[in-house]
Amino acid sequence: MKTLREYIKEAGEKGIAIGHFNISNLEALHGIYNAAKKLNLPVIIGVSEGEEKFAGLEEVYAVVSEIRTRDNYPIFLNADHHASFESVKKCIDVGFDMVIIDAAKLPFDENVAVTKQCVDYAREVTAKTGRDILVEAELGYIGSGSIIRDVVPEGAGILTTPEDAKKFVDATSIDLFAPSVGSIHGLIKTGKPHINAELVTEIKKVTGIPLVLHGGSGLRDEDFTNAIKAGISIVHINSEIRLAFREAVEKFLKENSSEITPAKILQPAVDAIEAVVEARLKLFSGMQ
Ligand code: G3H
Ligand code: ZN
Repeated sequence: MKTLREYIKEAGEKGIAIGHFNISNLEALHGIYNAAKKLNLPVIIGVSEGEEKFAGLEEVYAVVSEIRTRDNYPIFLNADHHASFESVKKCIDVGFDMVIIDAAKLPFDENVAVTKQCVDYAREVTAKTGRDILVEAELGYIGSGSIIRDVVPEGAGILTTPEDAKKFVDATSIDLFAPSVGSIHGLIKTGKPHINAELVTEIKKVTGIPLVLHGGSGLRDEDFTNAIKAGISIVHINSEIRLAFREAVEKFLKENSSEITPAKILQPAVDAIEAVVEARLKLFSGMQ
């Protein structure tokens, strides 16, 4: 099987993106995996610090790595938005394929310092074990929390400049870069801002490494396709999965108020997540 680095490189060459989807339970994992397998596409499973606390760090790793080995399938695991070196290290030590150090709230130099610490540690483990661990970091405001918001939060318009992006990537030697190019986390009732695809092109040109788009939920199809064409190699989706889960369970319980069997209550949630992920993966991989 190719490594995640190789799949990302290949996606960049083909002008497509790999889907990254967050989970905090087995139902979401099944829905995502069913969709990826149906389309025969590589997929990245993400867990934030909160999601992994709920699901169990070792448990998530055990299930994802078991699926990968059992089915010989390119399903990878990412520590999404981890705020400290210690929490990143824990995920690397458990066996994650990829980590995101989220220090974008810190001043530039502090962001560089903690990011560099994570990169150095990942390289050290890679050298010792042969596992190719990828490190992603962020610069600029991409919001926080996969939640439903009434309006676009303040700060969303402050985008990463190509100059800062280059300085940051050169100083940290990260493998993947998440700039602020227009989108922010969550679903927004008044609609999401557009992606600045020209900025993506410029940042890609000066950094020369694969770029990651966060805050994918609720973006317009053309924003995704323009961003991917401009140099985005991974797209993150979380809120749409959470919403699909909640709506499916709510609908089922409304129609079956006496049902108490978890498998029956939760199967519609698995199916709804599968449908969301299938549509997104088709778009990201140029199938539609
Ligand atoms: O890291 C997670 C994503 O960036 C999720 O963003 O909730 O807008 O899909 P989203
Ligand atoms: Zn994100």
